[in-house]
Amino acid sequence: MKNKPSEQGRVFDEPSAEHPLQVLHGDTRDTIRSLPDNTFHCVVTSPPYWGVRDYGVAEQIGAEPDLNDYIRNLVAVFSEVRRVLHSEGTFWLNIGNTYTSGGRKWRQADSKNKGRAMSYRPPTPEGLKKKDLIGVAWMLAMACQQEGWYLRNDIIWYKPNCQPESVKDRFTVSHEYLFMFSKSERYFFNQDAILEPALNGNGLKNKRTVWSINTEPYPEAHFAVFPRALIRPCVLAATKENDLILDPFYGSGTVGVVAKELRRRCVGIEIKRDYVEMAKRRTRAVQQPLILGG
Ligand SMILES: C[S@@+](CC[C@H](N)C(=O)[O-])C[C@H]1O[C@@H](n2cnc3c(N)ncnc32)[C@H](O)[C@@H]1O
Repeated sequence: MKNKPSEQGRVFDEPSAEHPLQVLHGDTRDTIRSLPDNTFHCVVTSPPYWGVRDYGVAEQIGAEPDLNDYIRNLVAVFSEVRRVLHSEGTFWLNIGNTYTSGGRKWRQADSKNKGRAMSYRPPTPEGLKKKDLIGVAWMLAMACQQEGWYLRNDIIWYKPNCQPESVKDRFTVSHEYLFMFSKSERYFFNQDAILEPALNGNGLKNKRTVWSINTEPYPEAHFAVFPRALIRPCVLAATKENDLILDPFYGSGTVGVVAKELRRRCVGIEIKRDYVEMAKRRTRAVQQPLILGG
């Protein structure tokens, strides 16, 4: 399927069963506009968190000095996500909360975590104080709901192996959110594909909203990548074989990896050229479809 060229002159070629993955290099805000309406069965993504990473690209999202601009930018991208999503499709958004930076203007590199270096830190948002928890995740979820999305679940991703924190006056944060949105009141949801064992070994039950999943680093990426185990249930519940998935913030291409393993097709959008190449290398190496429950 061909669509009109984007502003950068790009034309969308829908991936095929033989070539199930495609990465588009560009700013999601422009590139997504070249994608046709009602095309994707599911969208799974994790946008840059506000003021947490410096991806070193001028147009990166997440470095807006004003939190409201960050929310506005993402809501605008997700409004385009709704346009390109099938009427029966779902949108799965992973996002975590952050703290105010307390007036610090930059952050040093950490030998264990190279991606922590920051040439900027956003100022404390108006109305908040030093040390405040910023409920960015919920601000974004509510803004998406206001904009037209149906908010259907707030899944807690509990990370048993979370990063330790050197804090003495609060708990270590060990969870993030995975919000499930739908475009319409009725949508495709294959509950049977993600049933989980019931207590006492008594058959199977509907999957619950707290998912305990270890983080899974991808050594080439100096930023947080999705653990595949977080994405598999989304893909299994939201799509059938050969369906088309979109990740508008593709990073190292984990959604593409899972799509390929589960015989789905996937389009990723990524602004940083190095990451586009990294995602291609990584997804190329996925050979065999995954046999689940084997
Ligand atoms: C949290 S990472 C995504 C990681 C991904 N889920 C994975 O498993 O590898 C966010 C990604 O968004 C990209 N990004 C930032 N601003 C962007 C923009 N305006 N358009 C497209 N991609 C952008 C960053 O370069 C980064 O790769």
